[in-house]
Amino acid sequence: MKNDLLLKALRGEETGRPPVWMMRQAGRYLPEYMALREQYGFFERCQTPELACEITLQPVNIIGVDAAILFSDILVVPQAMGLEVQLIESKGPVLPAPVKTRSDLQRVRVPDVNETLQYVFDAISLIKKELNGRVPLIGFAGAPWTLLCYMVQGKGSKTFDEAKAFCYTQPDLAHELLQMITDTTIAYLKGQVAAGADTVQIFDSWGGLLSPEDFKSISLPYIQQIVGALKEDVPVIIFAKGAWYALEEMAATGASGLGIDWCIPPALARKMAGSNITLQGNFDPAKLLSPIPVIKKEVNNMLNAFGNGRYIANLGHGILPNVPVDHARAFVDTVKEWSSS
Ligand code: CP3
Repeated sequence: MKNDLLLKALRGEETGRPPVWMMRQAGRYLPEYMALREQYGFFERCQTPELACEITLQPVNIIGVDAAILFSDILVVPQAMGLEVQLIESKGPVLPAPVKTRSDLQRVRVPDVNETLQYVFDAISLIKKELNGRVPLIGFAGAPWTLLCYMVQGKGSKTFDEAKAFCYTQPDLAHELLQMITDTTIAYLKGQVAAGADTVQIFDSWGGLLSPEDFKSISLPYIQQIVGALKEDVPVIIFAKGAWYALEEMAATGASGLGIDWCIPPALARKMAGSNITLQGNFDPAKLLSPIPVIKKEVNNMLNAFGNGRYIANLGHGILPNVPVDHARAFVDTVKEWSSS
């Protein structure tokens, strides 16, 4: 591999400067993505390996990031498990028949991923071929709690109150569903690795909506199972947005990397996670709306705070659709120009 900075950083090896990529780096801020969006529906883009491949490579070619992340969505898993998922422009994801009762759970199954998600594995094979060793490919899946949020609430939410109520009022049912998602996700990520993914990231975007105690019972045990099943095959990165209070427990899962958001100072994150794991983050995505000189200054502050070693530069959550392309490029270029001396 020509540029394996990301994998070196995850293994704790010397990198010279930190690798850099951006969560949701293939997306609506790129005119080239918008052009394809005009022509094809969202899941059509996910399910057509040639399209998924083209979109995955866009940020590598246009922005110069040090890693590609598979273009797909965490919601392809609920879809494969038997639930209908729609992506409605301006509304986000909608699941018209969410899980509320035990009889709803009968509609949900642990599928054969080679039947239902083969298109993802085909996309990965094609991406690896097209990348031709330029940079590593990151595979991913949603964490079971975050997927339960959508499967129960049926749509996006600021609080995911109905998903929480489901866990609090029908805990047995909730844990059954979480286990089904976990079993599906392990098979799915193993399939991604078999197809060529060099590392995988688990997105627990709504982990931080849970109290520390609830996170430990509802989210962490399932993330732990997934990491345990994958960590001998590839390095695993956990990104549980807002769940800074559980960094120590997440580090203890055997993951190689921990994503953090901008609400925790780098020094505190390092103290909680310990020295034996790679941190990834944590630039506030909205800060990419600042003038470029401000971006450069703030990125340098971030890099100095994390220091070089066991660190991957990234945003603290996904890039926003209204970020100018040259601002995204300034973020990446500033990391590439930084030197710790
Ligand atoms: O990082 C990447 O570039 C890889 C692609 C990727 C997408 N979604 C593409 C996408 C990844 C890793 C995801 C993960 C994802 N999807 C998460 C976890 C990460 C996070 O951002 O918190 C979540 C919660 C989802 C669910 C989801 N998918 C939502 C809430 C939405 C609509 C709102 C939004 O941000 O666009 C999507 C749609 C989606 N997934 C788009 C893309 C590029 C936008 C689709 C479009 O309008 O073209």
